Amino acid sequence: MDILLTGAGGQLGVEIARQAGDSALELTALAHHELDVSEREAVLDAVSAVRPRVIINAAAYTAVDDAEADRQTAFAVNSDGPANLAEAAEKTGATLVHISTDYVFDGSKSLPYAETDETSPINVYGESKLAGETAVQSTCARHVILRTSWLYGLHGGNFVKTMLRLGKERDVLRIVSDQTGCPTYTGDLAAAILSICRRHVDGNPPQDGFGLFHYAGAGQTSWYEFAREIFRLSNAFGMKAPRLEAIATTDFPAKAPRPQNSALECSKIEAAYGLRARPWRSSLAGMLDTFSRDRNTS
Ligand SMILES: NC(=O)c1ccc[n+]([C@@H]2O[C@H](COP(=O)([O-])OP(=O)(O)OC[C@H]3O[C@@H](n4cnc5c(N)ncnc54)[C@H](OP(=O)(O)O)[C@@H]3O)[C@@H](O)[C@H]2O)c1
Repeated sequence: MDILLTGAGGQLGVEIARQAGDSALELTALAHHELDVSEREAVLDAVSAVRPRVIINAAAYTAVDDAEADRQTAFAVNSDGPANLAEAAEKTGATLVHISTDYVFDGSKSLPYAETDETSPINVYGESKLAGETAVQSTCARHVILRTSWLYGLHGGNFVKTMLRLGKERDVLRIVSDQTGCPTYTGDLAAAILSICRRHVDGNPPQDGFGLFHYAGAGQTSWYEFAREIFRLSNAFGMKAPRLEAIATTDFPAKAPRPQNSALECSKIEAAYGLRARPWRSSLAGMLDTFSRDRNTS
């Protein structure tokens, strides 16, 4: 088998499985109910049964606010899970492609973060994801860790779909304008991941193809500007656009603090793999186009 995918029912996992179906790559997709990555024996058994060349870990505990009160589960999934997969990959000689997050940074830097920048998470989710990175790095030599940010796509829950739903229900939306990041489309990230997998399945990874990489939509924005672009584009497809009010993070209290800036600098993955995400506005337009066509045909 070429690839074993965990977390196959999530917004990224579904997109990876869909795109793999259109490619020549063979993929076994396991959703949460089929493999719990926090169960060590189950992970070792699944990997030795499937014998993949590459394991993609798209499984994660992503409820950022809930994680504050549920540290144990966040660490079981986001730290023990990757540790188990790293052990299984190391034992079988597979490459582990593990997905991580911009929330490993504290957000105090004014420029986009590079892979070499110091990590210092400010919430439990970020801490648990950083622990997962460390476990992978210390357990499995053949690893590719991809940090991404502000993920959205056609499947599952995300900011874009929440905006479209709230836009239908309300006349005014108040959106945080003082957090900066890089919206990343699951369609682009899944294609990048499968392109990386192809190189490893073929036994032809680039010379600098292992280690830690950033991959995110090109350019950066605030949640407020992101929402403005969502409604500018969706309005052209005939969807109702509410009035948007820019607010500060302090006006929208959340259980988990968020980094003020979590934009990612992505030149390392371009140098190693030739991968560069599209400008985030182009990707968003593509996603909304597909979303509106799906809506009109369903
Ligand atoms: N979403 C973002 O904005 C964002 C930003 C930066 C990085 N990331 C990273 O990107 C990756 C993909 O995120 P996503 O947005 O696709 O997340 P998602 O939609 O929440 O999907 C995560 C999947 O993991 C599954 N899962 C949870 N616990 C599990 C366990 N113990 N064993 C196996 N599967 C388990 C979930 O299943 P259930 O739903 O059944 O629990 C879900 O299907 C994650 O590593 C995440 O940390 C996400």
